[in-house]
Amino acid sequence: MVDIHHHLLPGLDDGSTNLETSIAMARMAAEDGITHIVATPHANHRYPFDRAHNDEMLQTLREALVREGISITLGSGCDFHLSYDNIQDARVHPQRYSINRKQYLLIELPDHGIAPQIEDSFYELRLAGITLILTHPERNPTLQNNPERLKLWVQQGMLLQVTTSSVLGQMGTAAEKMAHKLLSDRWVHFLATDAHNLTRRPPKMRAAFDMVSSRYGAAYAQSICVDNPLAAFEGREMPPLEEPRHLFEPEARPSFLKRLFGATSH
Ligand SMILES: [Fe+2]
Repeated sequence: MVDIHHHLLPGLDDGSTNLETSIAMARMAAEDGITHIVATPHANHRYPFDRAHNDEMLQTLREALVREGISITLGSGCDFHLSYDNIQDARVHPQRYSINRKQYLLIELPDHGIAPQIEDSFYELRLAGITLILTHPERNPTLQNNPERLKLWVQQGMLLQVTTSSVLGQMGTAAEKMAHKLLSDRWVHFLATDAHNLTRRPPKMRAAFDMVSSRYGAAYAQSICVDNPLAAFEGREMPPLEEPRHLFEPEARPSFLKRLFGATSH
């Protein structure tokens, strides 16, 4: 399995706190069946983002994993907050933030409130050649209350990453419910751990893979846990995707009687 969202680099954000923890998180991931990890530190007002420094740190971690005999292929990326400054910089230097300096970028919404003009930001980033992957929409209260907004974005080509722990019901009932609605409609393109530590937010995909496989089919689990994330890791086009449901169908047309009398009744 391929994990495109993991706060693995030590001491940069609220993820791993030191090199030993990063090694232990990589070991836990490998034992769970994960073969590739994209290290995605936050880039927001709280945690500044320095790609060159992160790349050096990643190299140190790669060497440590070889010494420890842990077989994981590491890649670099970013958990990109949609702030004005970030967007302006990414338009000019998209590969400063994207997965392995290719075309895919993980974007993170604010927890509360989504700017009315956010679609303009998506458009600007796409013009810079970026393919957007929205992280954990199922955990966002605004989208939980207004899934039509998300529907529009998916119609426009937004790719969705759902968190493994949401699928397992460990991020609350609302996130679990929305995760399974998105999976059932085949709107999810990636599962990822968004791992922050070894305990509360661990780097594990196997249990969620198995649940998706049993509820929605083995082919879909393979697609969103292996094939699609590997394509993003390597900067290739998405493989053929399962047909999404309830995405482009028109709203049900009201009956003749309802159309006749609906306008006058209150
Ligand atoms: Fe994250």
